[in-house]
Amino acid sequence: MLNPALSITVASEPVEARTVGIAVVGLGYWGPNLLRVLGDNLDAEVRWLCDLDTERLARYRRRHPDARVTTRMDRVLADPSVDAVIIATPVHTHYVLAAQALAAGKHVFVEKPLAQSSDLADDLAALARENGRILMCGHTFLYSPPVRAVKRMIEAGTLGDIFFISSSRVNLGLHQRDVSVIWDLGPHDFSILLYWLSELPTSVRAVGRDSIVKGIADVAFVTMTFASGIVVNVELSWLAPSKLRRTVLVGSERMVIYDDGAPEPVRVFDRGVVYKDPETFGEYHLSYRSGDVISPRIESYEPLSLELADFVKAIQNGDPMDFHTTIARSVVRIVEAADRSLKAGGREVSLDHADITRQLTVRRELAAV
Ligand SMILES: NC(=O)c1ccc[n+]([C@@H]2O[C@H](COP(=O)([O-])OP(=O)(O)OC[C@H]3O[C@@H](n4cnc5c(N)ncnc54)[C@H](O)[C@@H]3O)[C@@H](O)[C@H]2O)c1
Repeated sequence: MLNPALSITVASEPVEARTVGIAVVGLGYWGPNLLRVLGDNLDAEVRWLCDLDTERLARYRRRHPDARVTTRMDRVLADPSVDAVIIATPVHTHYVLAAQALAAGKHVFVEKPLAQSSDLADDLAALARENGRILMCGHTFLYSPPVRAVKRMIEAGTLGDIFFISSSRVNLGLHQRDVSVIWDLGPHDFSILLYWLSELPTSVRAVGRDSIVKGIADVAFVTMTFASGIVVNVELSWLAPSKLRRTVLVGSERMVIYDDGAPEPVRVFDRGVVYKDPETFGEYHLSYRSGDVISPRIESYEPLSLELADFVKAIQNGDPMDFHTTIARSVVRIVEAADRSLKAGGREVSLDHADITRQLTVRRELAAV
């Protein structure tokens, strides 16, 4: 059953054909990437830069002389020429900043994860709905060409029934001060899985360790089960000798390796095992199929650029972006459950998504490539 939240429309007047005024809040590691991409978007104009760090403000003001700078969010929100606020601050600040912006009637793009708890994420979604504003979360991988290529293969049935998925997202650093590796890196894999499978996990287990900073897990192994029978394992770590972003999908017809950043990021293996029913009790036969390996051509563009272009376009067209809000809320639920399991020594945590929707049936074409 579809959740009503998936079928609402934005009440505000579309601001079609006019430039969207933007404020960027948070200019640390990630914010400048958002700023750079916005600089190339002809439909958007950066009107404010906001950060608590005045040195950073001074640095980016030189590159964006037309934008005003401030350490105070209330000054940004009081400006009627600001249509939308883009938030790239630490996770624990997301809720307050996004809630203030939505309450002031601004559209909001907030970096992943949407908020530091599922209650707060749900609250933001409700606030966006009440105010008729877009709430989008920066799940950049939903705009990644290889991720989309795999999605098309899954939808076309190329893999057959998916049995399981195994993923590694590891590198050395960057250690976050306020959140565990599950909150930092997990949203990437969890959002990709929700997008690919259009299904939410029913249970989550996680084990991990705070190897370096006490109380902040820097390695975690997260296992998820889905009602369809698919099982998933995700390894997340800031402690690894080299960077690896690799996902293996094993299906009844084919297997796929998605290796982000590799020269051939998607490889499709016509490999598998065929089980033949026993003719007499106990005499089953297995035959192993080892066919071609294909590396499909993958489009080339910057996901971040397309993601922000989609946000700006949605503001112009009055598109509520419900698909994104749903994914973002579900991601926070999974992260929260994994964190809870980790703290309980790997105990299984059941997930109840009844208030969102069991299946992500909204199949919105994300954006024209
Ligand atoms: N989509 C991605 O691939 C991706 C990649 C990296 C980081 N991120 C996300 O971006 C966000 C920021 O991460 P980061 O690594 O850039 O953090 P960071 O600590 O490097 O930068 C955060 C900045 O926010 C500023 N800030 C803090 N509180 C503020 C407030 N109340 N008002 C205004 N400014 C404030 C800080 O002064 C700092 O400049 C996080 O949510 C992170 O998960 C996303």
